[in-house]
Amino acid sequence: MKNILFSFFLLVLLIAPLLVFGADSEEVQVYHSPKTVEITGEFTDNPFNHIVNGQKNTVKITFDNKGESNYTIDLITGALINKDDPSEIYRNLTTYRYSIAAPSMDHVDFIYNFYAEFPPQDLGLLLYVYFTDENAKKFRGVGYNGTVTVVDPDVSIFDLQLLFMFLIIGGFFGGIGYLIFQTFFGGAKTKKGKKRTVKTEDIDAGSSDKFDESWIPEHHLKTQQTRSSSRIKKKNEGKRD
Ligand SMILES: *[C@@H]1O[C@H](CO)[C@@H](O)[C@H](O)[C@H]1NC(C)=O
Ligand SMILES: *[C@@H]1O[C@H](CO)[C@@H](O)[C@H](O)[C@H]1NC(C)=O
Ligand SMILES: *[C@@H]1O[C@H](CO)[C@@H](O)[C@H](O)[C@H]1NC(C)=O
Repeated sequence: MKNILFSFFLLVLLIAPLLVFGADSEEVQVYHSPKTVEITGEFTDNPFNHIVNGQKNTVKITFDNKGESNYTIDLITGALINKDDPSEIYRNLTTYRYSIAAPSMDHVDFIYNFYAEFPPQDLGLLLYVYFTDENAKKFRGVGYNGTVTVVDPDVSIFDLQLLFMFLIIGGFFGGIGYLIFQTFFGGAKTKKGKKRTVKTEDIDAGSSDKFDESWIPEHHLKTQQTRSSSRIKKKNEGKRD
């Protein structure tokens, strides 16, 4: 335990100067983009500049280098801001690193993707393009500065599709469940039912013959039978006689 704490302490000691150094190195002078560089950004296949919640939004950046210098595009950062007050940052967007050559008298296109999750509304979108010249001089140009509209993905269709999928899957498994139930429980019931009907039929058939006798009280029946038999006997005896 002590060893772990000690190594953690060492690690902090090692990293701390790096962090300080890193922070220092970020304070390198960044110049405004020269007039000879023209940077434009546009949403591809998205004429209304819609930012769809939870989905990938793509901005195509065009870097037109009309100057003498050769540049290298380093990174793009961005932010969603209050469209009426650019100083109010709602969300910093992901920073992407590039290493794209933008030679003198040439123009290059590249893509910046980002995701957002906001209540539907109009926002300002600001994208910064950082690039360096051959003397490692750093510049920052504006890649996009405009109003965008945050929209929700097409929820209704998505929900309907999901609902249909659940219905179909539910129906499928419901059917399988019914079949299984029928096989293991329902089948036995129907057999019993069949047996019962057969039995009742038998009983009915049997009782229909016996019913007349069973309707008569047993002792009476016996006596009648005995009487009748005795009568028959007597008759027979009488005939004999
Ligand atoms: C830019 O690159 C081209 C071709 O590599 C080279 O001829 C030209 O001198 C470079 N420009 C500068 C200002 O270094
Ligand atoms: C955006 O980043 C800047 C510095 O890069 C920071 O000062 C600011 O607080 C961040 N804003 C948000 C909303 O994350
Ligand atoms: C963005 O555009 C607005 C209005 O056109 C402007 O006032 C603002 O300075 C621009 N922001 C940047 C960083 O260029």
